Amino acid sequence: MKNNPFSLDFGAEPNLMIPRYTEQNKIIETFTAESPSTHIFLLVGARGSGKTVLMTSVSHKIRDMDNWIHVDLNPEGDMLNELAAEITRKTKKQYPRLKFEISVKGVTVSSDVEEKYSDIQVDLDSILETLKKKKIRLLITVDEIHNSKDVRAFTGYFQHCLREELPVFVLMTGLYKNLRALQNNRSQTFLRRATRLNLGPLSQIRIAQQYEEIFGIPSEQATEMAQMTKGYSYGFQMLGYLTFEAGKKRPDERILNEYRANLYENSYEKIWEELSAGERSVVLAIAESAPGTDVKQIRETLQMNSNLFSTYKDTLDKSGLLSRGSAYGTVDFILPFFREYVKEVWGE
Ligand SMILES: Nc1ncnc2c1ncn2[C@@H]1O[C@H](COP(=O)(O)OP(=O)(O)O)[C@@H](O)[C@H]1O
Ligand SMILES: [Mg+2]
Repeated sequence: MKNNPFSLDFGAEPNLMIPRYTEQNKIIETFTAESPSTHIFLLVGARGSGKTVLMTSVSHKIRDMDNWIHVDLNPEGDMLNELAAEITRKTKKQYPRLKFEISVKGVTVSSDVEEKYSDIQVDLDSILETLKKKKIRLLITVDEIHNSKDVRAFTGYFQHCLREELPVFVLMTGLYKNLRALQNNRSQTFLRRATRLNLGPLSQIRIAQQYEEIFGIPSEQATEMAQMTKGYSYGFQMLGYLTFEAGKKRPDERILNEYRANLYENSYEKIWEELSAGERSVVLAIAESAPGTDVKQIRETLQMNSNLFSTYKDTLDKSGLLSRGSAYGTVDFILPFFREYVKEVWGE
């Protein structure tokens, strides 16, 4: 049997990519512009929507351009030290003739400079000034940011770079609630103005085309199969993977059961865990109401005060879980079989 072309790994760039041209071009065009309108993009979306993959593919495109350096930082740990060390390592490789006058320990030290700087930020400033003079831009990616001291130290420094007009560009991913917690710090309010790109579903038309091609099935069948993914990135890979693995041309009952079980275990359980008690009750009420039920009616069943209800609904919306229903004033779940998951596992 041929190798399965689908990929179940979170984060790694899959072989089969449904392009997100709009988001990708927006980031690349903005960051490479002569005078960029912004230096930061935040990629937000539900678990499994494709944040890490988009971040990775954009960073690979930019890193291959002239006069760019790309550094990926781990949000756990001393990000500023890692940044200095990584820039130095990358420049040595890409621009061997470029020398920085710095004192970072364990990193290239220009010969005549003594260890007179102890502050990492002073070193970084000096490094970035040098890059600026050489017209080199720096792209920093950070996956899965959250509200921690290390991340705040990094974003605080980035804010300083913006003020000093240093050529630093940041692309970060995060779950909406983690991002909100970070932005709510008094020192981080500038992040609220950062452009947020919400990763919604992938194009079902393109998903159907991929299935049609790979499984050699008529387009109506491929469309039906694409509908079962609702454009959920992880669902697209999972359904394709299982169908391919079973040696079938389209999912049968057994494959569909397996598909649902995998969505539940690998994604929805975590999503549910991350919800607050109030959000859970709203999700449960929506799941248990018939599709197309008026939002107002759902709130009344819950007997929840309308401000509170709107707050929960808004958070669920921004977390990439809810979409507007097909009829006015109704809601639906974005992820495939999420309603079924909630009903089966958490319902009455
Ligand atoms: N544009 C895409 N086209 C096809 N599959 C994708 C795409 N983006 C992500 N995926 C797949 O979806 C899954 C989750 O992607 P990932 O980027 O790890 O999500 P997130 O970081 O939002 O949790 C992975 O299996 C990945 O291969
Ligand atoms: Mg991710």
